[in-house]
Amino acid sequence: MIIAIDGPAAAGKGTLSRQIADAYGFHHLDTGLTYRATAKALLDAGLPLDDEAVAEKMAREVELAGLDRDILSSHAIGEAASKIAVMPAVRRALVEAQRAFSLREPGTVLDGRDIGTVVCPEAPVKLYVTASADVRANRRYEEILGKGQSADYAEIFADVRKRDERDMGRADSPLKPAEDAHLLDTSEMSIEAAFQAAKVIIDAALKKK
Ligand code: C5P
Repeated sequence: MIIAIDGPAAAGKGTLSRQIADAYGFHHLDTGLTYRATAKALLDAGLPLDDEAVAEKMAREVELAGLDRDILSSHAIGEAASKIAVMPAVRRALVEAQRAFSLREPGTVLDGRDIGTVVCPEAPVKLYVTASADVRANRRYEEILGKGQSADYAEIFADVRKRDERDMGRADSPLKPAEDAHLLDTSEMSIEAAFQAAKVIIDAALKKK
């Protein structure tokens, strides 16, 4: 059983994916972390972000088991990740590892930008989780304030828009809903409501198996 979850940054797909994986006892892979780990390895080694052959080599060395959200969550790493994510050779290397992960038993939840369209087009459940740019920027803003740090809303909003443009506008595997994806707009939905909506879709797919 493969559950493919795509959507833009800060739409709530990470939280939803973890909740689904916990509820069904499935393995979870946040594929954004694979792009982030590649970017961090380049930054740490002082290597350029625009050399596709070097970036591909780093991508092939990424260990899925060692991905740590706390270490990889910084804004700078996210920006660098979205830059190297436009490179076809980097995508090929990471997609290979992601596909292998998706076959684990008894089931998997993968979240990212191209899971339903490119990584696992055969997934029986595809969700496209979205929310307005304003709602997503606000969530980021509240999250940073919640950690006791200061934040500038206008700057965060501009960042969300810039990341959307880069992810939706790239030639290789742009962010878009798969034709057979269920759309979940979480702008005015709690995470619990989103989970319940997802559960109905997943249970129906499991029954068909
Ligand atoms: O989701 P997250 O913010 O961690 O992803 C970082 C960047 O990695 C995204 O902005 C996107 O450019 C890239 N990414 C991707 N394909 C995926 C997951 C992430 O291109 N499946």
